[in-house]
Amino acid sequence: MKDPVEDKAVAAIKRGDLLELQIDDLAFGGAGVGRVEDLVVFVEQALPGQKVLVRIVKKKKSFAEARLLQVLAHSPHQTEPQCRHFGQCGGCAFQHLAYEQQLAFKQKQVEETMRRLGGFESLQALPTLPSPQVYHYRNKMEFSFSPLQWIPAELLGQQTAEDAGIYLGLHVKGFFDKIIDVATCWLLPPLASEVVGAVREFAVASGKPAYHARNHEGFWRFLVIRQAQNTPDLMVNLVASEYDEALAQQFKKMMHARFPQISSLYYSTTQNLSGVAYSEEEYLLSGNRCINEKLGPFIFEISSNSFFQTNTLQAQRLYDVVAEYAQLQSVENVFDLYCGAGTISLYVSQTARHVTGFESVAAAIADARRNATLNGVENCTFVLGDLRDGLSDTQHIRTHYGQPDVCIIDPPRGGMHPKTVEALLRLLPARIVHVSCNPATLARDVKLLCANEYHLEKIQPVDMFPHTAHIEAVALLQRNH
Ligand SMILES: C[S@@+](CC[C@H](N)C(=O)[O-])C[C@H]1O[C@@H](n2cnc3c(N)ncnc32)[C@H](O)[C@@H]1O
Repeated sequence: MKDPVEDKAVAAIKRGDLLELQIDDLAFGGAGVGRVEDLVVFVEQALPGQKVLVRIVKKKKSFAEARLLQVLAHSPHQTEPQCRHFGQCGGCAFQHLAYEQQLAFKQKQVEETMRRLGGFESLQALPTLPSPQVYHYRNKMEFSFSPLQWIPAELLGQQTAEDAGIYLGLHVKGFFDKIIDVATCWLLPPLASEVVGAVREFAVASGKPAYHARNHEGFWRFLVIRQAQNTPDLMVNLVASEYDEALAQQFKKMMHARFPQISSLYYSTTQNLSGVAYSEEEYLLSGNRCINEKLGPFIFEISSNSFFQTNTLQAQRLYDVVAEYAQLQSVENVFDLYCGAGTISLYVSQTARHVTGFESVAAAIADARRNATLNGVENCTFVLGDLRDGLSDTQHIRTHYGQPDVCIIDPPRGGMHPKTVEALLRLLPARIVHVSCNPATLARDVKLLCANEYHLEKIQPVDMFPHTAHIEAVALLQRNH
């Protein structure tokens, strides 16, 4: 029976209260979890094993959110973060947690989500596949300009004037207009951080203002860096709100003097009001239109706006898992649904009879076709269309693309549309290899597929993003008979 005195104590907890908490778990998204009786308290940056002093910032009936004020007792899994921005920057959640524990957390999250949302009670996920690099693993990063710098709370008193500088970096969690003026981002190769420093100096010297995300005024918008891991290629794309020929030429001169290894240099413009670094008009100042990246025996041309897995070395491992689960013997007809630029299609093409990739973005389909030609791959077809309705006419699909033996699916975070799941259940391939970057929608979709026709054979979490709470997993579904 519940103790009414304790119940009262929980009910009395309110916003602003200070509490001492023992953290015993991590929640989806990475916050530490502590409890006061039945009340679950989420604390950003707190780790299991820590005893912490927190301030309650939000209180609901069954849960509360609190801000970490002080670590009173350390966790045995705690490590020293490399980055001096850690804790403020929205990029990393776990630099202070030992990598093995990050992997264990991701495995547990996949298991719990599949159990809770998918009903797979006895499921055990395989141990998370570690990333070959835990720092410097990203091949692409987008930085934003802002006239507003994030100042850590403890330094706020030293700020004397209204901020109106030029800052270049990453967003603070929960603030779309304030920027951490990043010196070194540990998720990028060191050369890329040097580029950030040089571009910041250039922007400051230009006399043009940084773009203000609230009033939509200003000049400098974004910096996008792509550095291949398996080739020497380096792309730098500076995005502004307008084209300025004199500035573009100065930029080119400065970048070539400081970074002769640049293989593609762009100055781009965008009028888009959103905070997404998308270049609408691109001016290639020097070098090649694309960078080349290698995955296994394949070479991929990546243009400035196109999607490519950001952790190249781990993408290869991810695709190896996909290829292993697809169990291809060179006779199968394979569908690659949500194929993007066709990377998975090409990767499995050598062991398939034919692969048909389906994708809704025209530029990605163009990339996929170009990459197939570049690699001399002749057994892949790429189809442009929205999969929501695109698979609905099963007869049409079978007539044009044949009966699929294996479907590989890699949907965006929202997962598959119910109509796509229904279409798959009419097509009934022998195997489905489901890649997902969101365990919640993976659980939802796999549950539907496994209601009658399929069973979940295994599930492999793959750590594509060390130090972040992002979780990628590959599930293998076999037909029941
Ligand atoms: C997670 S990405 C997968 C990319 C690819 N498999 C890879 O590894 O590079 C998801 C892809 O689904 C595409 N997409 C999103 N919604 C779609 C839809 N309704 N129909 C077809 N493709 C869609 C996106 O454009 C994106 O390329």
